[in-house]
Amino acid sequence: MKMSKRKFIKALTLSPVFILSACKFKALGINNNFNNNFLNNKNFGGTKMPFELPALPYAKNALAPYISENTINYHYGKHHQAYITNLNNLTAGTELVNKSLEEIIKISAQDKSKAGIFNNSAQVWNHTFYWHSMKPNGGGKPSGEVLQKIEQDFGSFENFVSEFKNAGATQFGSGWAWLVLDSGKLKVVKTGNAETPLTTSAKPLMTMDVWEHAYYLDFQNARPNYIDTFLNHLVNWDFVAHNLKN
Ligand SMILES: [Fe+2]
Repeated sequence: MKMSKRKFIKALTLSPVFILSACKFKALGINNNFNNNFLNNKNFGGTKMPFELPALPYAKNALAPYISENTINYHYGKHHQAYITNLNNLTAGTELVNKSLEEIIKISAQDKSKAGIFNNSAQVWNHTFYWHSMKPNGGGKPSGEVLQKIEQDFGSFENFVSEFKNAGATQFGSGWAWLVLDSGKLKVVKTGNAETPLTTSAKPLMTMDVWEHAYYLDFQNARPNYIDTFLNHLVNWDFVAHNLKN
């Protein structure tokens, strides 16, 4: 299911979560441009290339001690930036130059000759989505409609945790674990390398990067510890709630 940027922005600006988040970020001393950067984010759809590295929704040290500033410097500053640079280079002068990021992902996913473009465009989107899937003081058990929906579709929050952990731990090599909405039902899925639910009928609600570059500096090879930390301290359930409604 396509994430409509226009719908996303309209709903987001009107939502209490947005206002609360804006206040929180202001309180954290984060540049007020956060709002504009987020709303004008070239990496969530509509806007055309050249794509730019979107602002993080928090300071680089805001997720410490769980995810260190060092990891963010490499993961966001080097890896995410590299996907954006590669994508701009690969699409410059091609018929894709006037397409949005989501359009480029969907077109290149169906054309094996565009594998490099797919990998880089999907990784740009996946990473932007991942940064927003986390927040300082996040994680733990959600409340309200998100918890209700999880309990309805997984049987219990504990069942969801178990499925999500299993997806992250059993994704062989590099990839992603996702919470998605598929045909009205919450599901956990995993994808390899740059694969993304955007090319399926499922709507992404939240994701966890399980490429080694996401956790190796902080957790070395202990991916399960990173997964536990993500669930206990980092998940942005407000983002999930927003995506669920819009
Ligand atoms: Fe990554």
